Amino acid sequence: MRKKLVVGNWKMHGNLLENRQLLESVVTNVSNMHEKAQFAVCVPFPYLPSVQAMLQNTSVSWGAQNLSQFDKGAYTGEVSSGMLVDFACDFVIVGHSERRSIYGETNEVVAEKCAAAQRAGITPILCVGETYEQREAGITEKIIKEQLDAIIQSIGIDFFNQAVIAYEPVWAIGTGKTASPQQAQDVHAFIRKIIANQNSVIADVLLILYGGSVKASNAQELFMMPDIDGGLIGGASLVADDFVAICRAASQ
Ligand code: 13P
Repeated sequence: MRKKLVVGNWKMHGNLLENRQLLESVVTNVSNMHEKAQFAVCVPFPYLPSVQAMLQNTSVSWGAQNLSQFDKGAYTGEVSSGMLVDFACDFVIVGHSERRSIYGETNEVVAEKCAAAQRAGITPILCVGETYEQREAGITEKIIKEQLDAIIQSIGIDFFNQAVIAYEPVWAIGTGKTASPQQAQDVHAFIRKIIANQNSVIADVLLILYGGSVKASNAQELFMMPDIDGGLIGGASLVADDFVAICRAASQ
């Protein structure tokens, strides 16, 4: 039985005051839900110390949204896995479609970042997903398989022992267009099959989250699907009532 996981991806939002108000409300309201589900927020780097201080000893974990593939060196503006360890991050999002499309992260770079996170003991949340054009062209599975194969070939299948996958169709991110539960389930089942082909034990316990316009109103029907193990939540994670409602849907 896989325990559901709901992760908020704040992206480049927030400030010290808003973060405090949001987290105070979230922590209070999810405190009785953690038997059936786990919760986390992935926040902008500068807020890690204050978020750590607010969330330690609560039922909400925290993490970052990116990391460098390198351990240290002359990489101006980058943040290493060791720095995330200093702030006790449990999770780091890797290969989000915004990183791939805006910052040019290739499957190879994403694989290096995944390896760096795992070496440091941080659970990577590996994002995969197709664009609208790719779905229309009927190559969704091919794209997802390439994204996963890049990891399997460079790190090995054991990577997925200590990792989470987030399926985020690019056309559903921030657009209000959610994949239907069946559309999402089909891709989740495909992802689990790819992993199972190599190692069925790992595939059985692997958490596969859905991301892309998850809201309080659609979370439950998505989370009821057999291969959807929770969500990676963008916009709705910035509104306490909405995020709490999504967490509640995961803990049913
Ligand atoms: P939205 O929930 O705002 O569509 O964002 C999804 C996402 O990109 C989470 O990583």
